[in-house]
Amino acid sequence: MINANDYSNYMVPFYAPADFIVKKAKGSLVWSANNKKYIDFTGGIAVTNLGHCNDELIKIMNQQSKNLWHLSNLYMNEPSVELAKKLCKKTFADKVFFCNSGAESIEASIKIARKYCTNNIDKSKNEILSFTSSFHGRTMLGIALAKAKHLTDGFAPLPKGIKNHTYNDFDKLEDAFSDKTAAVILELVQWQSGITKANKKFITKVKQLSKKYNALVIIDEVQSGVGRTGTFFAYEQFNIAPDILCFAKGMANGFPIGGILTSDKISDSMTVGSHGTTFGGGPIACAIGSRVVDIISKKAFLSDVLKKEKKFLKSLNEINSSYRCFNQISSAGLWVSVELSSIDIDDLIKLSHKNGLMVLKANATTIRFSPSLIIEDHLIEKGLEIFKKSILQLQ
Ligand SMILES: Cc1ncc(COP(=O)(O)O)c(C=O)c1O
Repeated sequence: MINANDYSNYMVPFYAPADFIVKKAKGSLVWSANNKKYIDFTGGIAVTNLGHCNDELIKIMNQQSKNLWHLSNLYMNEPSVELAKKLCKKTFADKVFFCNSGAESIEASIKIARKYCTNNIDKSKNEILSFTSSFHGRTMLGIALAKAKHLTDGFAPLPKGIKNHTYNDFDKLEDAFSDKTAAVILELVQWQSGITKANKKFITKVKQLSKKYNALVIIDEVQSGVGRTGTFFAYEQFNIAPDILCFAKGMANGFPIGGILTSDKISDSMTVGSHGTTFGGGPIACAIGSRVVDIISKKAFLSDVLKKEKKFLKSLNEINSSYRCFNQISSAGLWVSVELSSIDIDDLIKLSHKNGLMVLKANATTIRFSPSLIIEDHLIEKGLEIFKKSILQLQ
């Protein structure tokens, strides 16, 4: 058995985890080592979209683990090519590259964009345009793209060749582009400042300027993808076609996987040996991913996500009209945020835990919910009851 002191004694303190040790989880429920039950509105940070320890996925994982765990990308394995084929059939893409995490998918996308420009245009066309309040992971490149002080402080020197412009500001967007722009990278729904959708005029301008300056469009769907916003990928709702799309998180329901989708045009200018990975495209992750894609891409599944979103919004609006505790409620599918008007966010998270609910922080004043996409209606109701109770205890 471990205790909470073991955590601080043996782990690098990058996190301040909740004060209970998790023993097991099933669906949208989690149990601590003391057998206390929690309703999970975090979904492992938008990852376990088909619930914890999903029976069907366990079977697939067990079966695949008996046949082949790992061999490397020097040999073909069926699950990875099958998953790639499936993703291409269901999206804009012609080609897929698999890696292991969101940050690695970002890294791959930027490397590919620069390589593409070097091979096809000029090596001086290497600048990447990113946006404020974005999040692209914790690698040196990811934090350089996001540029926010809380992410970059103490880590200089950062990778060069990155320009950062205000998200959703379309008026001055052209000032940020030039013939040196290789690619623009954006999230169509950001979460760091509360759930924030890209506005239509901004997207129109991004498309128009990318075309004018011959820059690639990279869409970071690490968190917004795999059904989270009510379509399989969020780009389907935004009238924009990516040149490169980054995915990870929910693709194998918590078994590590990441990757990019792209076109033949871009893929054809990549060469053997110019990028790679040891674990990416592993057969277990891809076998699970294949089933995840089958389930989540179904229309009925996705329309259920939107029904559950409405349920969240209805209850949160009711809580707010009674107690005026939120400045803003926003959502994109089962990705919901509330900006607190006065309650201390850390106190609220702690009290929610005490009362049996797990929630996430988006920033210093904003709570984020990203539950499993199959969370039962009665657990949404019960969880929001606990959330309301915790707010009232702090008011
Ligand atoms: C939009 C977005 N991009 C990239 C990442 C990085 O993914 P990972 O933590 O798997 O490296 C995240 C992680 O939260 C994310 O939300």
